[in-house]
Amino acid sequence: MRRKLAAGNWKMNGTGKSLAEVVEISKDYMTSNIDILICPPATLIERMARTAVDSAVAVGGQDCHAKPSGAHTGDISAEMLTDAGATHVILGHSERRADHGETDADVRAKTQAALAAGLVAVVCVGETEAQRDAGDTLAVVGAQLAGSLPDAGVTGGTVVVAYEPVWAIGTGRVPTLDQIAEVHDFLRTELVKRFGDAGERIRLLYGGSVKPDNAAEIFATSNVDGALVGGASLKATDFSAIIAAL
Ligand code: G3P
Repeated sequence: MRRKLAAGNWKMNGTGKSLAEVVEISKDYMTSNIDILICPPATLIERMARTAVDSAVAVGGQDCHAKPSGAHTGDISAEMLTDAGATHVILGHSERRADHGETDADVRAKTQAALAAGLVAVVCVGETEAQRDAGDTLAVVGAQLAGSLPDAGVTGGTVVVAYEPVWAIGTGRVPTLDQIAEVHDFLRTELVKRFGDAGERIRLLYGGSVKPDNAAEIFATSNVDGALVGGASLKATDFSAIIAAL
């Protein structure tokens, strides 16, 4: 009942030359029963959206400001992302929470702005290694989920939640399948408690060192509806192999 989603987060990687990777993916997936999303750096959004036109590949931003416009040097509004051809935006990634001090309240305001602009918000949650070691994983991701999502406008079509344990990002370390299932089942329960039927339809992505060789088993795990992929999304052959595993 929930469509699968393979999302790539290029982070601060990629120049015009990297569009060749998207040409490859777009060629392979002109139509698909799987949703495919690539979130390049802001400088590539418009070109990528043009490159991926008529393919099954959607394009997203990696952040947006909570305000529609104004004196915010270096920031990009949700409207600007849609204007450039984006349909999605990643919000509350742990790198932004750590590097830019983003709080749950900030992420919630950004999510509201994204929804108001018609973007699908991919909202990230995840515990640090110290928090997991302390046995606080569910409390941490539960609080992030509660604080980062607004009360209004959250549906299966407008919001995706990504669980990314901070200690698994870019490290090659992956939680056990039981650990992934525990968190995804918990997030599902929390979403249904708060949003009712819509909570059943919100897709839950796993992110953190997803590679072609571990994708299939992760995708077969309870309440995993796809992946948010960093490093392995930069190479078309790797990302295609991950999509194929869905
Ligand atoms: O948003 C994706 C991400 O943080 C995971 O990165 O490189 O571990 O796949 P990576």
